[in-house]
Amino acid sequence: MMTGRWSRRVSHRIALNFEDGTTRFIDADESESIADAAYRQGINVPLECTNGVCGTCKAFRQSGEFDAGSYIEDALSDAEAVEGYVLCCQAKAKSDMVIDVLASSGACKVKPKETMAEIVKVEALSARRIRLSVKPREGALPMFLPGQYVNVTAPDEAARRPYSFTSAPGADVATFLIRNVPGGKMSAYLEAKAKTGDRLVLNGPFGSFYLRTPRRPILFLAGGTGVGPILSMLEHLAARGANDQPVRLVYGARDDADLVEVDRIEALSACIPNFTYDTTCSGPGSRHPLTGHVTDHLSAGALNNGDTDVYLCGPPEMVESGRRHVAKLGLLPANIHFEKFVPAGDAIAV
Ligand SMILES: Cc1cc2nc3c(=O)[nH]c(=O)nc-3n(C[C@H](O)[C@H](O)[C@H](O)COP(=O)(O)OP(=O)(O)OC[C@H]3O[C@@H](n4cnc5c(N)ncnc54)[C@H](O)[C@@H]3O)c2cc1C
Ligand code: FES
Repeated sequence: MMTGRWSRRVSHRIALNFEDGTTRFIDADESESIADAAYRQGINVPLECTNGVCGTCKAFRQSGEFDAGSYIEDALSDAEAVEGYVLCCQAKAKSDMVIDVLASSGACKVKPKETMAEIVKVEALSARRIRLSVKPREGALPMFLPGQYVNVTAPDEAARRPYSFTSAPGADVATFLIRNVPGGKMSAYLEAKAKTGDRLVLNGPFGSFYLRTPRRPILFLAGGTGVGPILSMLEHLAARGANDQPVRLVYGARDDADLVEVDRIEALSACIPNFTYDTTCSGPGSRHPLTGHVTDHLSAGALNNGDTDVYLCGPPEMVESGRRHVAKLGLLPANIHFEKFVPAGDAIAV
């Protein structure tokens, strides 16, 4: 919030999500339209009449309060407004907001955002799990929505791979939980070469797998390092404090040794009201108290007759079978959010 001697300017932070998964944050005063704020900060969101007449600037509000402004029914119907659509040339933010822009970031002239970072620590949590901590070399880490990822480039461009933040947005040090894949390029760098002070480039943030405003119970289903973005969501919920919705996590791994970060989840459970979790191992010979897949441990209460926001993350097969499972139990597709950790190889976007 900014205040002056003669006038009081209230500024809010708006996350603009583009169709290609890119996210950019802008600041918007309560006195300016979201479109004006975006243009002021170099983002050319779709715009034509600027008068609430043509509908070109229509976007979808994921969360946040706003003043809708004035417009005609042809530009935005009552039904669309009820659904959550807004006109960016008219709407003024009254709180922080998350908005889906109905265009690609390229079409809106969004420039790639790179942050120069350096390694603070690389820790082997097990033979197959690495925790990477990084800080910015100058300025701040990229802002992101809890659950999003960045493309991380190793020194000498040895590899560039997408990794999801496990830390909360705004933390001074960002953390990632990374699977150590035998023969993998980034895995080999992190296991054998990476050291404190190494320079990494972070490009992003990206992704539509982020925590929505909690309006109904939340069920997190995590497989392996897929718990990473869910940790970021839990960190965010813990930092926010107030939460009146039940939050449940079921976190599974194949091998007992790979159920890492459980201490952190336990510590977070003390800060998130209504939070419960279970861990399970699916590999043969597991000595873990719970065995089997995450979907083997869903209670009727956690599904709340289908009125639950489900967040699924992990290997592609786990996410697919989890989605099918919860859909069969009555969850609506709109309430199922997921991210598949598809091996990205060298073909990812910069
Ligand atoms: C949006 C997104 C977010 C992601 N976030 C994370 C994250 O937070 N943590 C994380 O650990 N990973 C994450 N991944 C996957 C990650 O980007 C890499 O693909 C993975 O870490 C392997 O990179 P690498 O360079 O070590 O192996 P590569 O050099 O890419 O692969 C080497 C070989 O191993 C195979 N391989 C790669 N990954 C796997 C796997 N998981 N299982 C089986 N075989 C595999 C490849 O097909 C290839 O044959 C994410 C992927 C996406 C698309
Ligand atoms: S630009 Fe025409 S309605 Fe907003």
